Amino acid sequence: MTEETVKGREVTIRFDASRCIHSRGCVLGHPEVYVPNVQGEWIHPDSANAETVMMTALTCPSGAIRVSRNDGTGDSDTPPVVNIVRVRENGPLAIEAELSIRGERQAAPRATLCRCGQSQNKPFCDGAHASAGFAATGEPATKDFSALEVRNGPVNVQPLPNGPLLVMGNLEIVSGTGRTTDKVTKTALCRCGQSKNKPYCDGSHVATGFQAE
Ligand code: SF4
Ligand code: FES
Repeated sequence: MTEETVKGREVTIRFDASRCIHSRGCVLGHPEVYVPNVQGEWIHPDSANAETVMMTALTCPSGAIRVSRNDGTGDSDTPPVVNIVRVRENGPLAIEAELSIRGERQAAPRATLCRCGQSQNKPFCDGAHASAGFAATGEPATKDFSALEVRNGPVNVQPLPNGPLLVMGNLEIVSGTGRTTDKVTKTALCRCGQSKNKPYCDGSHVATGFQAE
């Protein structure tokens, strides 16, 4: 069982361990709510105010943490106003959008997608980039892009067999430091780790014999 639900007085926290990339933003940012390495319950929704707990979900890049208000007045699953995919240095692609994967709508509008080729939980990141020593810039060159007519809306990620992530929908590609490098409605993003033109696929997956469903 990878999912855990903890209901507090005002908010309920859902944690999906299969999505967590152990970036530790939660346990370092709000150690009063998320207490690592303890026996028994480690999630404490009543240890901070509801807004703060909500923020822990909005800043969890993988979508592992989701928060909803118990009175039904809000949750962290509201899609963003601007769809983005952030290229994380030596790490995954962190996407934030009204997200479907293989056509299946995702509950969380956030996910971290493997781009090193080593995850055992593709298309999601499982943190394998760290032990694999994946090295890739988070600062790709800025392309000559045009403004998008619409900046949000549905985005579907289709992992192609033994190939890239085909991404369809309004999407801004953003560097690790927050610079918008491209705006697309359709693109193919490398997930084998071998492209010479990251974050885009350049066909290297063929020569390197990348294998992935
Ligand atoms: S991915 Fe989310 S749940 Fe996992 S450590 Fe980072 S902030 Fe916490
Ligand atoms: S998926 Fe990496 S080059 Fe195509």
